[in-house]
Amino acid sequence: MRTDLVRPGSGELTYEIRNIVNVAEKLQKHGVRINWENIGDPIVKGEVIPEWMKEIVAKAVMDNSTWGYCHTRGVLQTREYICETTNSRGGAQITPDDIIFFNGLGDAIAKIYGSLRSEARVLMPSPSYTTHTLGEIGHAHSAPSLFRLKSEDKWRPDMDDLRNHIKYNPNICAIMIINPDNPTGMVYTEETLREIVQIARENDLFIIADEVYINIVYNGEKTVPISDVIGDVPAISLKGISKEFPWPGSRCGWIEVYNGNSDEQFRKYVNLILTGKMNEVCSTTLPQTVIPEIVRHPEYTLYLQERIACYEKMSNCLSQVPALQVNRTNGAFYMAVAFKDGLLNHRQSISIANSEVKELVEGLVNQPGVSPDKRFVYHILAATGICIVPLSSFSTPLQGFRVTLLEKDENECRRIYSTLSEKIGEYLNS
Ligand SMILES: Cc1ncc(COP(=O)(O)O)c(C=O)c1O
Repeated sequence: MRTDLVRPGSGELTYEIRNIVNVAEKLQKHGVRINWENIGDPIVKGEVIPEWMKEIVAKAVMDNSTWGYCHTRGVLQTREYICETTNSRGGAQITPDDIIFFNGLGDAIAKIYGSLRSEARVLMPSPSYTTHTLGEIGHAHSAPSLFRLKSEDKWRPDMDDLRNHIKYNPNICAIMIINPDNPTGMVYTEETLREIVQIARENDLFIIADEVYINIVYNGEKTVPISDVIGDVPAISLKGISKEFPWPGSRCGWIEVYNGNSDEQFRKYVNLILTGKMNEVCSTTLPQTVIPEIVRHPEYTLYLQERIACYEKMSNCLSQVPALQVNRTNGAFYMAVAFKDGLLNHRQSISIANSEVKELVEGLVNQPGVSPDKRFVYHILAATGICIVPLSSFSTPLQGFRVTLLEKDENECRRIYSTLSEKIGEYLNS
């Protein structure tokens, strides 16, 4: 090309959760059976959608209006329903104009970061869900500002670290949290949320709260939505149906804007996000249309509780492995584990029976710049077919991996975790 097409460094950005799929697919061709523990898609892991839910969607498909464009902000009745739900909690009060639907939260996240001035930075947790960090890197063209979640303390946020970033970096305009968290499964306490809101208030910042897992909590935990504690601070909450119904293929999520008019800069920013959506006309109509009927259905709560009970059963799954720093998960459906310091190196390996598979994987992990946990994860994939994601790909210096808790077959689930435990031992002792 006669001119550079991409910014320096941007060609190197990768989304490892999906990247590893390419490797796994190559291994499949060599006969390796893959367990997809890399991605938060309950459908891939055998979730069976109840008939009543399918019937609601089928009925909606027969209605011509679901085939058309909808309002740029989204279907009005659904936005009214969401307002009722949020407002009835007694915290932040919103109107349908404070809600914008997107083609999945991936779309919302791209617009939330993409609408910011490149100097304005969002402080986010480390480890962090990749789409947020890539969104932030993409808009700012530099590494994200990160506050630490403490692997040694149940993945609770390091509040001193968070305060220090804000104190020393005047470009920080917002604090982003994911509650319940991906990749750690940590649930923020009400006290911590109030503290974060107070820090935002004192420093004139806004809050981005990704609450896509808000109703997926267990082990007696409760999630407090940010709307309950936000008071007068401007904020954006992200919610969606990908994980809860679960319908990730619907590409349907929304933002709720709290205190949207309390600050002129924030008002203009939200307006820019809306303009971005206006350029696309609107988001997918059909899934928006069915949300109220599905959530109000008498069997919805029970169905969700049954799913959540399965995640709870697995929430301590790798705690017996001495080499790992494991925290029980209390929400969402991922577990992030870190290897204890210094345990991984670039010489370790696991025996891989198939010589072609061995050659393929050795070729990938022996390239310069491959992190020790990526090396580990690729070896596990080749030797066992279990597809997990390196922890270091979630913007953290910690070395470990993220595994999902989604396997529907309990025996298979236990087999996966016991295979992982066994192979970790073999790898570390090699
Ligand atoms: C924390 C978090 N936010 C957003 C998303 C994206 O969801 P969607 O399917 O709505 O794009 C995910 C998907 O895994 C997620 O884990």
